[in-house]
Amino acid sequence: MPFPKHRARRTRQSEAWRALVRETHLRTAALIYPLFVVPGRGVRHPVESMPGIFQLSVDEAARHARDVAARGIRTVLVFAAPEHKDAAASAALDAQGLAASAIRAIKEASPQLLVWADVCLCGATDHGHCGHVTAAGTIDNDSSVATLAQVALNYARAGADAVAPSDMMDGRVAAIRALLDASGLAGTPVVSYAAKYASSFYGPFREAAESAPAFGDRRSYQMDPANAREALREVRADVEEGADLVMVKPAGPYLDVIRQVRDAVQVPVVAYQVSGEFSLIKAAAARGWIDERAAVLETLTGIHRAGADLIISYFAPEVAGWLGA
Ligand code: PBG
Repeated sequence: MPFPKHRARRTRQSEAWRALVRETHLRTAALIYPLFVVPGRGVRHPVESMPGIFQLSVDEAARHARDVAARGIRTVLVFAAPEHKDAAASAALDAQGLAASAIRAIKEASPQLLVWADVCLCGATDHGHCGHVTAAGTIDNDSSVATLAQVALNYARAGADAVAPSDMMDGRVAAIRALLDASGLAGTPVVSYAAKYASSFYGPFREAAESAPAFGDRRSYQMDPANAREALREVRADVEEGADLVMVKPAGPYLDVIRQVRDAVQVPVVAYQVSGEFSLIKAAAARGWIDERAAVLETLTGIHRAGADLIISYFAPEVAGWLGA
């Protein structure tokens, strides 16, 4: 039906009309907020490359989690940067370690809040890789998977409401599922970072999580940004292995992948608006080059429109304030 019969502007003429025909709505309950935990007490150390984001000691993380829960946030994602780092990733396996302690403290302070635990080796290894390194300097898949499953069990026992492996080793979802099931934790969901790309947008996070690789890069395990079909294979494999939710990460540069994943599987799809996506907006807004609130809402709306049911974002508490609970 061509012009002049068809006039698309009719339903755009006022905010009442625009609200009436709006197709996509952000919800506070669908936002997940990451927390960075560091050793000590009373620590609130600003992450320079991420204005408004802090490295928090366990006590402060529990307090901050309570604050954001009061603002309507229902789910947090915990990352830990333990002091002790070694080849075995011992800190991540320790029931009294930083991540396990943080999970317990946050659950104790806010029992209603869902606490997801990021499961990876990079924050606890001396080399900063997400798996074990061989003598030849490669990343060994199967021994890494065995350790990752133990890490997931440690966090689940500490009370995590979900474990979220972000390492990108093959077969880790099945190994984690099997170990949890065998350990009386069949009810703990696995959120798989299924399509995680080797992205330049993780830079600020590596400052916050103190997890930059000491040598090389992550391209032998994280995905090539050029590949979308491969993402569908990764996602389907993880769903078959027992993933309860799957993730695409980063979000903004991968909207086509989010859409294809949404259409390919039935589990909830999570998208992670990563540190670099956050910092770009913060940096431009600080210079007055863009309107922060409008830019944040536009990026999150785009990610949701592309097919993400849930979004992990460092903007989550701010957005909760704008949207209401
Ligand atoms: C660790 C991990 C990373 C992120 C989440 N988990 C960094 C990486 O893979 O190097 C990135 C999150 C962000 O940039 O906000 N495996």
